[in-house]
Amino acid sequence: MQKLLEKVKQIFDEESFIHEPKQLYEPIEYTLRLGGKRIRPMMLLAANQMFGGDIEQVRYAAIGIETFHNFTLLHDDLMDKSPLRRGKPTVYCKWDENTAILSGDTMYAMAWRYFLRQPHPHLQEILNCFNETGIEVCEGQQYDMNFEHQKDVSIADYLMMIRLKTAVLLAGALKIGAMYANATPEDVQHLYNFGIHLGLAFQLQDDLLDSYGDVAVFGKQTGQDIRDNKKTYLILKALELANAETKQELQQLFASTPSDSECKVKRVLEIYAQIGIRQYVEEAIQKEFDLAQQELEDIRVEKTCKKPLEELMEALFDRKK
Ligand code: IPE
Ligand code: IPE
Ligand code: MG
Ligand code: MG
Ligand code: MG
Repeated sequence: MQKLLEKVKQIFDEESFIHEPKQLYEPIEYTLRLGGKRIRPMMLLAANQMFGGDIEQVRYAAIGIETFHNFTLLHDDLMDKSPLRRGKPTVYCKWDENTAILSGDTMYAMAWRYFLRQPHPHLQEILNCFNETGIEVCEGQQYDMNFEHQKDVSIADYLMMIRLKTAVLLAGALKIGAMYANATPEDVQHLYNFGIHLGLAFQLQDDLLDSYGDVAVFGKQTGQDIRDNKKTYLILKALELANAETKQELQQLFASTPSDSECKVKRVLEIYAQIGIRQYVEEAIQKEFDLAQQELEDIRVEKTCKKPLEELMEALFDRKK
């Protein structure tokens, strides 16, 4: 796994993101050089390696998938009013809202350019997968925003929303990596399903860290989902388990945007602690990990070829950022 990360780092080090006008490209360079975990390009490379692919053939697809992911972050931080990412000010805070929009748009187009840079017999199919994924991520982001104002969101609705906004990109990165290596449609499907379950677990963990993460490690402001009235697994499960009185209080808290948001965050966290919500989220994460594991087992390649993805999966399970 360490080798995969080294490879991704090397690929990024060899690429330049600075062009004119600098007002457009500096925020792009800033974002792409801030690092992050790089899990999507690592997954793309791991999937490709698993089926005996040539790493040089997926170099630009790896940059493309990460550039797309970073585009979603520029817009997401603006939509979520998040001040901090990877321990640094977000683009819309450091520059302004218009910059986050336009640099983000450019990154989406740059992602396409990276994918188009290397010919491949299955490029049309690969680009189709990339494009459908892009549309689904936007659909998920819209549901995420709709749910801020919607009272009757179910856990099934939530799972549908995070599948779209987060899981399909992890699954898509894996699928694309496998397609470059000419994997069979059956194996590609198992790998895609693996990515979906891993992605669901990943977003559940992200929601958990949003309430319980250590800001210095997590790199994002905590309590932001509560401030934004996001319908995460935490609040939905809490509403399901709370008594009538607490349920009403939670509903009122999640229908308000008080100027003193700290008070609201503190109270919600108190209720979460009373209910013991962490344990329920951890169980939901475990369930998705088990399902992911099963899909990985069903792929017909040597066990040793699955090792890098298994390691990546375990690292994500333990993540604190
Ligand atoms: C953040 O993704 C957005 C989510 C889907 C939760 P990551 O947690 O992969 O962010 P970086 O790229 O490592 O910063
Ligand atoms: C992110 O969901 C999904 C996308 C960026 C598409 P979040 O809004 O939870 O991600 P973070 O927590 O800001 O990284
Ligand atoms: Mg966000
Ligand atoms: Mg968001
Ligand atoms: Mg989050």
